[in-house]
Amino acid sequence: GTARDLDGRHVVVSAGGTREPIDPVRFLGNRSSGLQGVEIARAARKRGARVTLVAASVGVDVSDLDPGSLVEVETTAELRSAVRSAGGDADVIVMAAAVADFRPAGTAASKIKKSAGAPPPTIELVENPDILAELSAERLRPGQVVVGFAAETGDADGDVLEHGRAKARRKGADLLAINAVGDGVGFGVAENAVTIVDRDGETVSTGQGTKRAVAEALLDAVVSRLAR
Ligand code: PMT
Repeated sequence: GTARDLDGRHVVVSAGGTREPIDPVRFLGNRSSGLQGVEIARAARKRGARVTLVAASVGVDVSDLDPGSLVEVETTAELRSAVRSAGGDADVIVMAAAVADFRPAGTAASKIKKSAGAPPPTIELVENPDILAELSAERLRPGQVVVGFAAETGDADGDVLEHGRAKARRKGADLLAINAVGDGVGFGVAENAVTIVDRDGETVSTGQGTKRAVAEALLDAVVSRLAR
């Protein structure tokens, strides 16, 4: 894309992985490093946008980003409220964060202990709200472009792209970047490859490249979406 094609735009990006507390010292989490979302924030900034980065336990250095544009969160509930409050005047929201679908029904007030002879505890889970589906259905601002990711392991019950396409329809985002994840792929590594599905059926695949290159390809798709 052109150098400053996001001039004057406000872009909200979520990155990293949410953590759901089990007790004061333990959580349910995932392997997202936050790099893919951070690279989208960096690229959007370079293309002229004002950026808000909602960072969920991001493990990469973000000291190059304006501290005023950074909102640090831990849980899905915190991420949801941060994205929604920054998203009210956003032209674009990109949900690159790996959001927990479930959280423990309750958080123990003190550290869960072993007791001799007692069976292991069970953790009851409840479903989290689907932030991307809500954002897509509500549109916090008219004309806002809502972008999601789909992380698919490509297991025995079907291929990565088909799962991703079904997810795009279900969640209603304008653009969905489908990436394979799993053993040494997607999460926590330097490179990525995405297939970007437009809600009108257009599809672009990036091939394997840096997360920076994937970010630029995604923003190209965002810019053409903004132009229509
Ligand atoms: O952080 P890195 O190490 O660089 O790795 C990048 C990545 C693999 C984490 C990233 O590219 C990615 O795929 N992010 C989305 C991970 C994810 O949660 O995928 P999902 O298929 O479970 O969810 C689909 C979409 O719905 C995502 O945009 C997610 O943010 C959103 N979601 C999911 C659950 C939920 N309760 N609310 C949501 O908004």
